[in-house]
Amino acid sequence: MRLTVNGQPYDLAIAGHESLVAILRGRLGLTGTKVACGRGECGACTVLIDGKPAYACLTLAAACEGAAVSTIEGLGAAERLHALQQAFIAHDALQCGFCTPGQIMAAAALLAQTPRPTEAEVRHGMSGNLCRCGAYPKIVRAVLDAAQRLEAARGA
Ligand code: FES
Ligand code: FES
Repeated sequence: MRLTVNGQPYDLAIAGHESLVAILRGRLGLTGTKVACGRGECGACTVLIDGKPAYACLTLAAACEGAAVSTIEGLGAAERLHALQQAFIAHDALQCGFCTPGQIMAAAALLAQTPRPTEAEVRHGMSGNLCRCGAYPKIVRAVLDAAQRLEAARGA
C-alpha cells in the first residue's frame, strides 16, 4: 500500500494488524511520535490524519491508505521551527518532553480549527493529551501564545 507521511509517499508492505505508530517509528524512522500507554489513553502518539488528530497507537496503518498523515517531523524544521514549537520553548512547556510531540500535534489541529481559542477551548481541545509531569499551565500558555504568533504571521 501507499502511505503518505509529511507529504512524502512510501510504498510499503503492511500487515493488517500493524499500527500506524509501529510503521512510523519502526519502518520509517519517524521516532518523534511517542508511545506511552499504547492503548488510546494518553495522546503521546497523536498525529494528524487528513488534518484531524488521531492516536497512532490505535490506528491501523492499512486504514491510512490514501490519507495524508502528518507527524511532528513535518511540522517544522530545526532551522525553522513552527510557532507552536517556538512557543513551547519560550514558555518552557515541558519537563521530560515525552508527551510534547503529541501535545504539539493536538494543538496544531486545534489551532487549524480554532485560530483564536479561549483558554477554556485550549483546555478542552487538548483534553485527550495527558502530561505525567503536570506541565498543563505552561502548555496552555504556550498554545495561546502560538495562536497569537500565527495570527501575527498571517497579518505580516
Ligand atoms: S500511546 Fe497512543 S494514546 Fe497513549
Ligand atoms: S512533559 Fe513529561 S509527560 Fe509531559
